[in-house]
Amino acid sequence: MTDQELVERAKLARKMAYSPYSHFAVGAALLTRGGKVYTGCNIENSTFTPTNCAERTALFKAVSEGEREFEAVAVVGGPEGDTLTYTPPCGVCRQALAEFCPPDFRILLGQNDGSIRVFRLIDLLPEIFLLEEARKTEQGSC
Ligand code: THU
Repeated sequence: MTDQELVERAKLARKMAYSPYSHFAVGAALLTRGGKVYTGCNIENSTFTPTNCAERTALFKAVSEGEREFEAVAVVGGPEGDTLTYTPPCGVCRQALAEFCPPDFRILLGQNDGSIRVFRLIDLLPEIFLLEEARKTEQGSC
């Protein structure tokens, strides 16, 4: 699976976005170590708070199917319609991904001109909080 193919899967998933409040549609495609792809879209809610981002939709679908190891996620977003705008994952999604994904997990952001910006999870979420790790640390630095 190439980066471009994963972005294409995210674009297809974006078509399913339920975004009547923000009118901002997002799609994600999450690649497992075994080569399977789980897709997701944002799903908004009348009371706003329960809104689920595309990345977490894909992650929760995958984890609920028994997946635990991931290579990369592609994300595309933009105002409803075909135009994509730069859509980096929100902080909640970064933390949700960090629960299962290694520091070098790749985050691919598809852009309107067809180019892809690539980040590592550790660069978008430095100093990740993981309970197991925090329990091991006798003395923090803060
Ligand atoms: N959204 C995502 O799905 N993923 C992100 O990483 C950023 C934001 C969604 C949430 C909401 O439905 C809409 O975009 C506007 O914030």
